[in-house]
Amino acid sequence: MFRVQVIHGPNLNLLGLREPDIYGRQTLATIDAFLAAEAELLGIALDCFQSNSEGALVDCLQATFGHKDGILINPGAYTHTSVAIRDAIAAVGLPAVEVHLSNIHRRESFRHHSYIAAVAVGQICGFGADSYRLGLHALVHHLKSLQP
Ligand code: DQA
Repeated sequence: MFRVQVIHGPNLNLLGLREPDIYGRQTLATIDAFLAAEAELLGIALDCFQSNSEGALVDCLQATFGHKDGILINPGAYTHTSVAIRDAIAAVGLPAVEVHLSNIHRRESFRHHSYIAAVAVGQICGFGADSYRLGLHALVHHLKSLQP
């Protein structure tokens, strides 16, 4: 059974209230609940973690080493700033899929660059909360492709 760590970065705890025109009206609790249901359908084990703190996100990433098989991450604004999160993903060496609710490429230019993309298997953005579901499927598909 694949073990997946879902990681949500800063301000994603405010989903539902935060700029709903951009991020939609679903709360993080709703997203975590549908990911849990999706995980059951896929037959995988899934844990979700959110923090506003870069160090806590790095700690969570480090803790995946030896305990998880893959990472689904929305690094929020740290996408565009954090070498530390990028290095933590590279350090643990697990397949990671980067997701964003909004299409970061059609927004402000400072959102166009992701420090995470180069260490991710791939990036899914622009589908609202469904980016997470699509990202989870992509990650599981990728993990299956790595099996002998
Ligand atoms: C986000 C996009 C980021 O640019 C932004 O800072 C976020 C959310 C998204 O899911 O669309 O906090 O990661």
